[in-house]
Amino acid sequence: MAICALPPSTVRLLGSSATIATPHDLVKELLENAIDAEATTVDISVSADALERLSVRDNGHGIAVRDLESLGRRAHTSKLRTFDELPARAGKTLGFRGEALACASSLSSVTVTTRAAGEPVATRLRLRPAVAGGGVQDSRPVSAPVGTTVQATQLFVNMPARRQNLLKERHRSLSSIKELLEGYAMARPHLRLSLRISDGGVRPWSYSPRPVPSVKEATLQIFGTNLAANCVHLTLVDEAREDGSRPQQPTGYLMDAFLPAPRCDVDAVRGKGCFISVDQRPVSASRGLPKKIARSFKSHFYGHLTRAESGNRPQASLFMQLDIRCPPGSYDANVSPMKDELLFVDESKLLECFEGLCRKLYGGEAASVATLTSPTAAGPPETRPRGARPSSM
Ligand SMILES: Nc1ncnc2c1ncn2[C@@H]1O[C@H](COP(=O)(O)OP(=O)(O)OP(=O)(O)O)[C@@H](O)[C@H]1O
Ligand SMILES: [Mg+2]
Repeated sequence: MAICALPPSTVRLLGSSATIATPHDLVKELLENAIDAEATTVDISVSADALERLSVRDNGHGIAVRDLESLGRRAHTSKLRTFDELPARAGKTLGFRGEALACASSLSSVTVTTRAAGEPVATRLRLRPAVAGGGVQDSRPVSAPVGTTVQATQLFVNMPARRQNLLKERHRSLSSIKELLEGYAMARPHLRLSLRISDGGVRPWSYSPRPVPSVKEATLQIFGTNLAANCVHLTLVDEAREDGSRPQQPTGYLMDAFLPAPRCDVDAVRGKGCFISVDQRPVSASRGLPKKIARSFKSHFYGHLTRAESGNRPQASLFMQLDIRCPPGSYDANVSPMKDELLFVDESKLLECFEGLCRKLYGGEAASVATLTSPTAAGPPETRPRGARPSSM
């Protein structure tokens, strides 16, 4: 067969189904749009098969009327102007490609209801499929509060094999959406999140932050008091970050962790998940630096157990939560379609910082690698690492 150009509609469909391959991927994109719009509450509703209907409602800043015609058009975004901006913007915005809504409208029928602050009414519009160029198919004014609701129906209707497979895996789809929300609650404990599965007899899920949100509170609500009581909160501040001369533009790293305490009940911290985020962007722990961090954590924890308890336990996966705050320009976020993989300029320094934190917590190290703090509110005093001082955070 000779080499020929594919029709643009085929190119779009092929690209869209690679970016959004499952209902989970679509919820992730819509949730990230809500977070980028500064929403504090995001409510997700999904049909029992996760394919018939899916909607994400937020109380973010909404979309201005002048921008509506740009919705669902490929490579149309309000979050980035040039590629050069990406390193500095990656820590401030979850999305940057201007592709997600266009992909969604290639794979499903998408309705957006939105109202920006200062506008008297909301607009409800149907997106023209991205294969036909995107933009608005039809619209009408409706009554709705400031914020945005995106509803997608008939997911993957134009891809029968994928739809059939997803129908068979609907329970997996629903549980992966719930896990996604748990990951965002751990990375952003100030967000109010809820998931409702309509007509499935499945119990709704929700997370509501307390007036002073914390990872400990999120852990407690999501996984129960036993896990939260067996973990300790630590903050490691890289010396460069403590340089107060450039408060708007930090140069060093900060690690904020909620980890199993030394001498904790190991059964309470087993198999509850590994939550690593960078600038509050949840990242996959199965690749790159997060994978190395997870491995290092496990070896420090079990190493300490062996010494302290000389138990013969199999090294099961353990709960850990870590958020790394990075200075602008310290990583590339444009690595994978899911935007959950990052490439760091100085990966070894970050790994070193994390290992310093583990040594302090589990190794009884006295020398200071950087500033290590353990807020009293985060755990009982006996779980504080030796040499730690109360946090000012
Ligand atoms: N919930 C929302 N609230 C406010 N604005 C939104 C919302 N969803 C989408 N938008 C607007 O629509 C634009 C396109 O969204 P889309 O998700 O397609 O791209 P993006 O978020 O810019 O980048 P990415 O493809 O990486 O997600 C966004 O840049 C934003 O301006
Ligand atoms: Mg987006």
